[in-house]
Amino acid sequence: MRILAVSGSLRAASSNSRAIQALALLAPAGVEVEIWRGLGELPFFNPDLDIDPAPARVAAWRAAVEACDALVISSPEYAHGVAGVMKNGLDWLVSHPGLHETPVAVINATPPGDYAQAHMRDNLSVMFTTLVEAAFVTVNLRGRSETPAQIAADPALSAPLRQALNALAQMG
Ligand SMILES: Cc1cc2nc3c(=O)[nH]c(=O)nc-3n(C[C@H](O)[C@H](O)[C@H](O)COP(=O)(O)O)c2cc1C
Repeated sequence: MRILAVSGSLRAASSNSRAIQALALLAPAGVEVEIWRGLGELPFFNPDLDIDPAPARVAAWRAAVEACDALVISSPEYAHGVAGVMKNGLDWLVSHPGLHETPVAVINATPPGDYAQAHMRDNLSVMFTTLVEAAFVTVNLRGRSETPAQIAADPALSAPLRQALNALAQMG
């Protein structure tokens, strides 16, 4: 099974990016986690550009989602909203056919972030048919500096990530 994981933070030391990197390290046999790093290079969503052929970077993003068996999002909250770069990425998926059946899950790496989590859930429930509730997990990396390997090796930090992987693997 192929999981595509994407971080909504462009920050070099991002907690959300480290969370999905740890997720990749924890993937069991038969599960591959690919990290999508192109979110910051997408153009701003504009329906006038949402034509065939799509801009190359948009086409690559859509192809990556199309090729995966499940999508995992980990995004910070900014001013009580979902990070703009993440929302922009999601907006480019809305009109593309064939993506709505992709199972999707969310990691909250910087709790509480309650507003962004609620907005994200609302956005995703409009866009995707299958929200994998058991793979909506919190791993608290706010203000912490562990590397992905350290997160993966820490039983308390890795447990929710393992739970998400197990729940997603059952979808495969
Ligand atoms: C401009 C700005 C606004 C923020 N707004 C919120 C917020 O509304 N709620 C919250 O929980 N955290 C907020 N934060 C904190 C970020 O969520 C936190 O720094 C988080 O670690 C960012 O994710 P990252 O480590 O993956 O980059 C804000 C941070 C910045 C820089």
